[in-house]
Amino acid sequence: MTQHTPLQAAQTQSTDSSGTGSGASGNPKALYGGTSSRRITVRDISLAKERGEKWPMLTAYDAMTASVFDESGIPVMLVGDSAGNCHLGYDTTVPVTLDQMIMLSAAVVRGTSRAMIVGDLPFGSYQESPTQALRSAMRLVKEAGVGAVKLEGGERSHSQIKLLTEAGIPVMAHIGLTPQSVNTQGYRVQGRGEEAAQQLLRDAKAVQDAGAFAVVLELVPAELAAEVTRILHIPTVGIGAGPETDAQVLVWTDALGLTGGKMPRFVKTYANLRSVMSDAAKAFAEDVVGGTFPLEEHSVH
Ligand code: KIV
Repeated sequence: MTQHTPLQAAQTQSTDSSGTGSGASGNPKALYGGTSSRRITVRDISLAKERGEKWPMLTAYDAMTASVFDESGIPVMLVGDSAGNCHLGYDTTVPVTLDQMIMLSAAVVRGTSRAMIVGDLPFGSYQESPTQALRSAMRLVKEAGVGAVKLEGGERSHSQIKLLTEAGIPVMAHIGLTPQSVNTQGYRVQGRGEEAAQQLLRDAKAVQDAGAFAVVLELVPAELAAEVTRILHIPTVGIGAGPETDAQVLVWTDALGLTGGKMPRFVKTYANLRSVMSDAAKAFAEDVVGGTFPLEEHSVH
């Protein structure tokens, strides 16, 4: 009999590696709902922009969660440095290291077979120079197996993006609110007012010119995000950027209700995993203290 690890067993239970069967969109090539089970590439993502197709992206930080999203047909997963807040217990993304991102990204790659996995370059791993960025990105690609990397910054990261794409590493850029700059920028809406809007447009064009295959727009006015989406030929991925971007990303612990406390306005919560997990943990504890677990059926002789 074939022995499965728990993760492989969970994956085997999935009846459809494309996630959504015959294709919810009706287009077999659709990023979400398409029928292909091979790994999504940057070319697939460019073609989706040409078709005017919207697509979802979720963050993931471990193999098992990523396997659930992969089976659900999520076509792109970001191993975000939001792992700092959502997985590693830090207050910001600033302390996250490249070694941590490599370990988490490798786990997500191992847990998936279809989604394109984008690994985040953490604070301090690319700002120094394009060569530093290349060294760090090479590690994410070679050691973790990601299909692309993400880094923050528009005009200021132009030369980093250019060198990485010239070296064959697809780059997802990230402009607007860039959480690694929390100490200078805070967590405020970006691109409000004429001057800030012009800067955002310059940033968007700069990352496209440098060769980025997509750009995250975080916490910018919906009208401005719509304008950027119209102007660029690469897809925009919005978070707090209104409904007009080509794709939408959410941090998975926010979207599935595991993060505690008040959510930002732009988050929609699709489940309440925090209470599901808490109820299950309490039920287990009560069984143990009450002597109702384990029973004979859970015992070996
Ligand atoms: O780190 C992250 O999760 C991100 C997304 C919020 C885009 O950068």
